[in-house]
Amino acid sequence: MKLHHLRTCHLENPVGFQMNAPVFSWIVDAETVLSKIEIRGADGSFYETDYSRHDALGTRLDIQLRPRTRYTWTLSVKNGQECAKAEAFFETGKKGEPWQAKWIAEKEASERLPIFYKKLLLKGNVASARLYICGLGLYEAYLGGEKIGDALLTPGCNDYTDWLQVQTYDITKEIQRSAELSILLGDGWYKGRYGFNGCLDGYYGKTRTVIAEVHVTYEDGSTECFITDESWAMKRSNIASSSIYDGEKIDDTLEEETGEVILLEESEQKRLTALLTDNFSIPVRRQEDFSVEMIGTPAGELVVDTKQNLSGVFSLRIHEPKGSVIRLQFGEVLQDGNFYRDNLRSAKQEFVYVSDGNEHVLRPHFTFYGFRYIKIEGITNFKPEDLTVHALYSDIQMTGKLTTGHAKVNRLIQNTIWGMKSNFVDVPTDCPQRDERMGWTGDAQAFSPTAMYLADTYAFYRKFLYDCKKEQEAHDGMVPDTIPAAGMKGCSSVWGDATCIIPWNMYLFYGDKSILEEHYDSMVAWVEYIRKVDGDNHGYRKIFHYGDWLALDSKTPGVAQVRGGTDEGFIADIYYRKSALLVAKTARLLGKEADVLKYNQLADKILEGILYEYYTPSGRCAIDTQTAAVLSLLEDIGSQERAKAQLKELLEANYGMLKTGFVGTPFLCPMLSENGMEKMAWELLFNEDYPGWLHEVNLGATTVWERWNSLDEDGHISSTGMNSLNHYTYGSIVEWIWKYAAGLRPLEEEPGFQKVCIAPSVSWQMKYLDAEYASPAGTYKIHWDLPDKQHIHILITVPVGCEALIMLPHSKGEVFVMSGETIDRVYQTDEPLMEELSVEDKGEVVS
Ligand code: BGC
Repeated sequence: MKLHHLRTCHLENPVGFQMNAPVFSWIVDAETVLSKIEIRGADGSFYETDYSRHDALGTRLDIQLRPRTRYTWTLSVKNGQECAKAEAFFETGKKGEPWQAKWIAEKEASERLPIFYKKLLLKGNVASARLYICGLGLYEAYLGGEKIGDALLTPGCNDYTDWLQVQTYDITKEIQRSAELSILLGDGWYKGRYGFNGCLDGYYGKTRTVIAEVHVTYEDGSTECFITDESWAMKRSNIASSSIYDGEKIDDTLEEETGEVILLEESEQKRLTALLTDNFSIPVRRQEDFSVEMIGTPAGELVVDTKQNLSGVFSLRIHEPKGSVIRLQFGEVLQDGNFYRDNLRSAKQEFVYVSDGNEHVLRPHFTFYGFRYIKIEGITNFKPEDLTVHALYSDIQMTGKLTTGHAKVNRLIQNTIWGMKSNFVDVPTDCPQRDERMGWTGDAQAFSPTAMYLADTYAFYRKFLYDCKKEQEAHDGMVPDTIPAAGMKGCSSVWGDATCIIPWNMYLFYGDKSILEEHYDSMVAWVEYIRKVDGDNHGYRKIFHYGDWLALDSKTPGVAQVRGGTDEGFIADIYYRKSALLVAKTARLLGKEADVLKYNQLADKILEGILYEYYTPSGRCAIDTQTAAVLSLLEDIGSQERAKAQLKELLEANYGMLKTGFVGTPFLCPMLSENGMEKMAWELLFNEDYPGWLHEVNLGATTVWERWNSLDEDGHISSTGMNSLNHYTYGSIVEWIWKYAAGLRPLEEEPGFQKVCIAPSVSWQMKYLDAEYASPAGTYKIHWDLPDKQHIHILITVPVGCEALIMLPHSKGEVFVMSGETIDRVYQTDEPLMEELSVEDKGEVVS
């Protein structure tokens, strides 16, 4: 019997994370077990609880935790005569404990970044030491010049007006080597340029400031606390300027300069300290390393190719004469073979270095870049081995491995994975390169199930939802278009519904309802906000909504068009009802029976309005678009037969090509599969012409584009106003591959993959598929291949303790249940497998 994956609040041995009540989860590879958890606090406290197998996905334990305390928990499980034990720990941060430290700042403001420093005078041998810190905009802390921890861009990106994150570092070893503590501050999202269209400078704050406490326990048991206060000193760093969008300038020829340290005014001290909250953000780290290849361009530039569009930073070894200026610029695509970056809008995305004549390894500190290509200027004899690119993203653990027998589909899957990695930089962003990089809620909700197949996203989204909750509290329940809002004032349907959709998806994929408990009030607040706007006269339909963003059926033509052809009021009502239903379902789980009734009644009322306004009496949807038909099927509204026929006709009229945008696309292939039109779904996937997923692959994409037509057929960028090559929304096709081609589906009645349905769908063109999913309940494996057109080979493993309803494709409807076992079978198909149509057979495409 194996016991593994012990987590507290879905994190491995977390230190300093926000937890009012810990949530324990684990995986045990045994059928029926009794589990006991014993929790021992360093303060002598002791708790124990019994669990059933079902609780292994995460159950909140309402115990009082003390600040700055390590708790060790031991899990013992018993399965018949067999016993096993495993141990994990978590450590609390400062929780609500008052701060002794003060916020310190520089007296004179300067673009040049400050370093605050102080030598801590230790009284004896250190047994343990912790640093608790929040530095604004961004900070890096050092002991003896060595950076503490490997997290970057701390304290993270969130709504700084309502909460500030504190990180905890175990510095026991580091402080024994050196007690010279220094803190470098940058501008980041807080003080730098950040916000829609990149026009907000210092939106959250104008002053760089830091608060820190070092708590030391000596070997003799005595303790001491070192704090930031007016006794600290300050000097200027060699970082002349720094900005999330524009990059960084490091100048090693700058004269040394010191400055005066001040305490923030009393009222500001109070305001900021009251906002301090233990950490939610999982660390943003350097992840994969990439070597680069040098390319010459027709314009004679020195450009290197990372071969992968990503968000990242770099290390560059240089040795240039004093005063030389080195410039690196970052771009996503070449145009006519030359370096290009007009699609970044106002973001400069560069790195400038002025040399002091010595050899250095350079790295940026408080910025990141979205790029594949780097243009290099000012290096005399550049050698590619001197430059390493580091992908940079939040430390999510990948859970889904998926490969197929179709090389281009495999590239599409990789492109989607890179779309996710690039846009998981503390916040689920829209894009990592231009002057946005914001937590657009619509994109986040649409991609969330895909992300949940690919990685363990629980802690990542939990932080996003906490930020969302804070924003909603400040906006009367409204969900601003981006989280953090950074000045965004409006909201839109589909986008705002992220507050209901993401926690529900988390529950479905991870099976831990604590996220619903934590977020329930915010879900309700959003629905109530809409109710208010809607009034008695469908006011909600009439406010601005993004609608089926970037769909190809806009009433107004043009390559840069953003609005889709589906009535935005219709989409708004559909999502209003969807959120009301999610609230009702959540209320049922949380035992809030009055709310179940209330929100089901509300959903019924909205449905009445939808049917009256948008459907004919016979149940035909009066909006004749692919997305409207998809939504009718998805939400089971109107006549389903009419909706199926409508979707089929619309696709056929467009030669099997899609026209959907951000709303329709994630559900287009799923609805075709669910409604007996699976062949059309496969054809959409394999289509290599415009518009389609493999069309992008054919044009060399290494991530997923924002628009179906981001690049023209000849590889030219189609427009520059809003055109990113690294947007993940359309990567949601990978959810379809998981759910329908691999066929692995979580079930609402037993979420978290304890019980699933596995219903693969095979395609002659795909040849084979290999999927492995490390679910919170154990690892599922699904493989199929096609020995010939009359046979299917299937190999499925269901983890111990889990149950799968298996529906084999082309098997005359064979259905059976499996638990903790593997089947490996070749069987004859009920009818010969068909090839999907090739694009040439479809004739000319109308768009
Ligand atoms: C973003 C999107 C976002 C949209 C709002 C854009 O600028 O990049 O992905 O959802 O605005 O519709």
